[in-house]
Amino acid sequence: MESLKDKIIMERLPQHIAVIMDGNGRWAKQQGKMRVFGHQHGVQAVRNTAEACAELGVKYLTLYAFSTENWKRSSFEVDALMGLLTSALKNELKTLNDNNIRLNAIGDLKRLPTSQYEALMYAIDNTKNNDRMTMTLCLSYSGRWELVKAMKDIADEVKNGSLDPEKIDEALISRHLATADMPDPDLLIRTSGEERISNYLLWQIAYSELYFTEKFWPDFSKEDLYQAIVDYQNRERRFGKTSEQIKK
Ligand code: IPE
Ligand code: IPE
Ligand code: MG
Repeated sequence: MESLKDKIIMERLPQHIAVIMDGNGRWAKQQGKMRVFGHQHGVQAVRNTAEACAELGVKYLTLYAFSTENWKRSSFEVDALMGLLTSALKNELKTLNDNNIRLNAIGDLKRLPTSQYEALMYAIDNTKNNDRMTMTLCLSYSGRWELVKAMKDIADEVKNGSLDPEKIDEALISRHLATADMPDPDLLIRTSGEERISNYLLWQIAYSELYFTEKFWPDFSKEDLYQAIVDYQNRERRFGKTSEQIKK
């Protein structure tokens, strides 16, 4: 079968792909099932996406799994999501290692229940020597939370005399974010037809290409990922310059 994978130009692969994995609840509802059923099936889409990215040679995959605002959902749903996190970390550890993927997590992780926090730290430590791709889970994460934290940290450094405020520039701010060691996302994908950012990576997506698909997250396949990359490769990233300047 012909695959969109063959249309991908390997020399122009996005280095960093960020995903807002949305639509689990609606996917479940469509089938008359509980929202949690959709979350359970979302795990398969994470596995497929991670595998496809690693196979292609994408270096960073960053997944929005649970936002700061998601704490406002019913305790039933939050508990189910937390339960799913532990089981997925346990069940997917082998796949991560088999694919040489390093796991990373960003967000206000101290808000996670102890057993989830510990399972996460275990998986991160267990995959720390893998170097084909870094997969970052954003948990209890939001862009504004991250910016507030960065501003507080910078203010502390100024206050204790270790930072001259004159030295504050874009690079310094980037270094104070949870994504300090990563390049900014080249491509941001959001599933489920919603076209908004929902407090995701606000600073980092300044020049990311945005790709929206109607597919609900549990249905997102490797082919859907290839489609997003092909679409990305057909765009001209100008970074404020003109088309003529880019082609020079
Ligand atoms: C995304 O799916 C997963 C999380 C936010 C945890 P949703 O749960 O938001 O599903 P919809 O958007 O309600 O369909
Ligand atoms: C964004 O999805 C957060 C995650 C995918 C984890 P939401 O479903 O929470 O976003 P809104 O509320 O529709 O904007
Ligand atoms: Mg949603």
